[in-house]
Amino acid sequence: MSDSTETLTVDLRDIHKQFYGVKANEGVNFQLRPGEVHALLGENGAGKSTLCSILAGLYRPDAGEMIIEGEPVVFKSPKDALAAGIGMVYQHFRLVPNLTVAENLALGHHNLGVMVDQKDLQRDATQLGERYGLPVDPTARIWQLSVGEQQRVEILKLLYRDAKVLILDEPTAVLTPQESQSLFSTMRQLTDEGRSVIFVSHKLHEVKQVSDRVSVMRQGQMVGEIDTADAEPKDLARMMVGRDLELPTRAEDDSTGQPMLVVRDLRVPGDRGLESVKGVSFEVRSGEVVGVAGVSGNGQRELAYGLVGLRRPTSGSVTLDGVDVTEENVLEHIRQGLAYIPQNRLGMGLSPGLTTEDNLGLKAFREAPYSKGRQLVPAAFKSRGKDLIEQYDIRGVVPGLPIRLLSGGNLQKALLAREVEMQPKILIARSPTRGLDVGATEAVRNSILRERSRGTGVLLMSEDLDELLALSDRLIVLYEGEIVGELTARMATAERLGLLMAGQRDEVAP
Ligand SMILES: Nc1ncnc2c1ncn2[C@@H]1O[C@H](COP(=O)(O)OP(=O)(O)O)[C@@H](O)[C@H]1O
Ligand SMILES: [Mg+2]
Repeated sequence: MSDSTETLTVDLRDIHKQFYGVKANEGVNFQLRPGEVHALLGENGAGKSTLCSILAGLYRPDAGEMIIEGEPVVFKSPKDALAAGIGMVYQHFRLVPNLTVAENLALGHHNLGVMVDQKDLQRDATQLGERYGLPVDPTARIWQLSVGEQQRVEILKLLYRDAKVLILDEPTAVLTPQESQSLFSTMRQLTDEGRSVIFVSHKLHEVKQVSDRVSVMRQGQMVGEIDTADAEPKDLARMMVGRDLELPTRAEDDSTGQPMLVVRDLRVPGDRGLESVKGVSFEVRSGEVVGVAGVSGNGQRELAYGLVGLRRPTSGSVTLDGVDVTEENVLEHIRQGLAYIPQNRLGMGLSPGLTTEDNLGLKAFREAPYSKGRQLVPAAFKSRGKDLIEQYDIRGVVPGLPIRLLSGGNLQKALLAREVEMQPKILIARSPTRGLDVGATEAVRNSILRERSRGTGVLLMSEDLDELLALSDRLIVLYEGEIVGELTARMATAERLGLLMAGQRDEVAP
């Protein structure tokens, strides 16, 4: 640990990197100045992590130059990069679960055989944590920490090695809004000292809030670099996607529709027999989107299972358009007008081995005109599949090929197409855009809003607060299996939701 505040300039020139023919980076230029937060923005697969991993010494570029402080460098490993002052927090953390925080800080840093005093290590960890607003117990073992705390340890690890350039790859993906804000102030403090931060994200408002400059990547190429102050979110989105986005707009509505889903004092067991949903009551009306917010693992999964007939509730009731389906199986729920978009598209939603057309027809095949008596009518079935593929812009379909070969975004479009075509009364969707790129996300969100305008009641369960805030008319927050708050769209802010998600009911004024 040192108090030096030297800074580094980084200049990446014409970087190329392929993986088995996939051009992950194609002639990328990137400059980093001392003391800046430089956002790296781009859709999934744009090549951001690859570029960062090259700078951090994890990958070697196929071609191109890396110039640090005016000198060309070649990194053979992340160790070399760290020695030059560059370190990265990866999307998947690399801590050793069974070691303590302090031990993880020292790991790989001190030479083998050198005895490092545990007390010294712990003191260093505490001091660093206090100085940079990264509080964590140095004696805790990694497996005992929350994801947010583990991320702090990763950052402390870099600071313990006195990194001048910190690369954070999608750090906010695993944080609550409050944790993100606290990370942003840590980032500010680092840059105030002359260090620089590369902040990878695809969330426009975060980039706008925290960065000084933005570089945008698309399909392996750098498409632009701009001072954040001059960057309109709309322009950044266009750079990222390569076309104008039709951002979903939700017509204001007073939601006076009929209640389509009525849930009363519902209790649902968890996997180990303990109760996971502990008496929740709410309604979803025709033509409204009700968002369910919560940190993952607070009963969302069990609530969904209880609502769609995958798990028998222990008490309470679920009513679909006036029909009590509490004790019924999944098929009966579907008959009563329920559509479900599960979190695991291939596990529960689609049949991986069937073709896209067959998957699209799975729910309709019992009805005319797709079957006559007990006979399927293949021509009708096929043409329905074709129509849906076109209508929902499902790309990459090859006749005869199993659906599992489609990309995540196209799988989700197929799933939505199939569910929505059944003209459901209630649509329950869990994290419907998770892992999708901006284009597919837009398509999925617009489908959901179209359902809302058609009069479907939508229950949207998501960990993405932006999504919840953009689509919901009302929001309920689940915490430890209970509803700890309900907010109208007008009242809901990321901050209020974040407090409720952390169980701080009292701090949110009604
Ligand atoms: N280790 C790897 N092996 C094979 N392909 C990879 C590997 N890493 C990345 N890719 C591919 O390179 C492209 C860019 O990926 P990545 O750099 O992870 O993008 P981003 O971080 O912007 O989402 C993607 O098509 C991805 O599938
Ligand atoms: Mg990435």
